[in-house]
Amino acid sequence: MSEEQTLLQPYSKGNFETKNRVVMAPMTRSRADNPENKPTEGLQPVYYRIRSTAGLIITEGSQVSERAVGYINTPGIHSEEQVAGWKKVTESVHEEGGKIYIQLWHVGRMSHPDFHNGELPLAPSALNPNAQSFTPEGMKDTVTPKAMTKEEIRETVEEFRMAARNAVKAGFDGVEIHSSNGYLFHQFFNSTSNIRTDEYGGSIENRTRFFFEVLDAIKKEIPEQQIGARFNPSLHNLFGITMDENTIPTFEYIIKRLNEYELAYIHLSEPFTDVSEIPYAVKEIAKHFRPLYKGTLIINGDFDQEKGNKVIEDGYADLVAFGKPYISNPDLVARFREGIPLTDWDKDTFYTPGKEGYLDYEIKAEI
Ligand SMILES: Cc1cc2nc3c(=O)[nH]c(=O)nc-3n(C[C@H](O)[C@H](O)[C@H](O)COP(=O)(O)O)c2cc1C
Repeated sequence: MSEEQTLLQPYSKGNFETKNRVVMAPMTRSRADNPENKPTEGLQPVYYRIRSTAGLIITEGSQVSERAVGYINTPGIHSEEQVAGWKKVTESVHEEGGKIYIQLWHVGRMSHPDFHNGELPLAPSALNPNAQSFTPEGMKDTVTPKAMTKEEIRETVEEFRMAARNAVKAGFDGVEIHSSNGYLFHQFFNSTSNIRTDEYGGSIENRTRFFFEVLDAIKKEIPEQQIGARFNPSLHNLFGITMDENTIPTFEYIIKRLNEYELAYIHLSEPFTDVSEIPYAVKEIAKHFRPLYKGTLIINGDFDQEKGNKVIEDGYADLVAFGKPYISNPDLVARFREGIPLTDWDKDTFYTPGKEGYLDYEIKAEI
């Protein structure tokens, strides 16, 4: 393979520039197993540094407050200790010439009272997702969450603003809003998880209001050209989300409206499961949404080198985010360049503590 392949070409639009079109997708790895839930010294700074050849690294989801958490050992971005821990990560990536955004996360109802001193997780409506939460005592069934008051919505908007401020302090090149995969924003978007009757529920405009309020708040801390947002429009029967006839029109509205902003990018995922029999689902996300959005579009979901090059060449995306391939191939860009076969990932060590399955995947190509 030559340097000329599309995935390896530099990209630039507005103020958003990357040295190639290979993005490391955000991935929870549960290595912040310390009392402060900060990136662990000797682990995250190394893990991200050796992936600095990516055009863009998006970190694992990082909770914006204690109330935002729903999985054990995930890092936060709301305390001084966490900011200091992330600073080591951004410095190590920047030393290698890399670019790194932090993913800002609130799980909403995908949590458990065990994380909140017995209090209920927050959500748009008191509807149990009937899913599982990864608690300190193992997997537990989710519960019926507490419907957020308007005051709690305002506080949460503020938590995102403060998290963006902390991200700047920690030296990140930008932030990605985790408005995907069944977490808090997705719970607001979807009319099967949001049955509110106030200005945050009902119409499409109301169900997306919280997202745009957060985006506008984050903009006060970091230029919009350094903000990305992630969506998974055809997520169905996973992470507590069920699609209905309102789902795709809602995402169409959001993505069209984002043309009024100059975001760094939008980041879309192809369906995570087979939705061929689901009447409400869009089967090819990049193809469907590309014409609706004028800015930079990152696509994700089960891509390999060949499909990645093709989706850009076909004009359906500008960059491609790789998830699992990046777990087991820190030198993914070099492997694409040299045509070196990829190493398989071991799912048993996705979320386990320590270096195993985290820092011990072989680097086969000169980076
Ligand atoms: C171990 C693991 C952890 C993940 N954690 C996150 C996360 O924190 N935030 C997020 O938006 N997506 C997360 N995802 C989803 C990935 O970003 C990606 O969308 C998914 O793996 C599909 O891409 P792939 O086929 O290239 O792996 C995770 C996926 C895996 C495998």
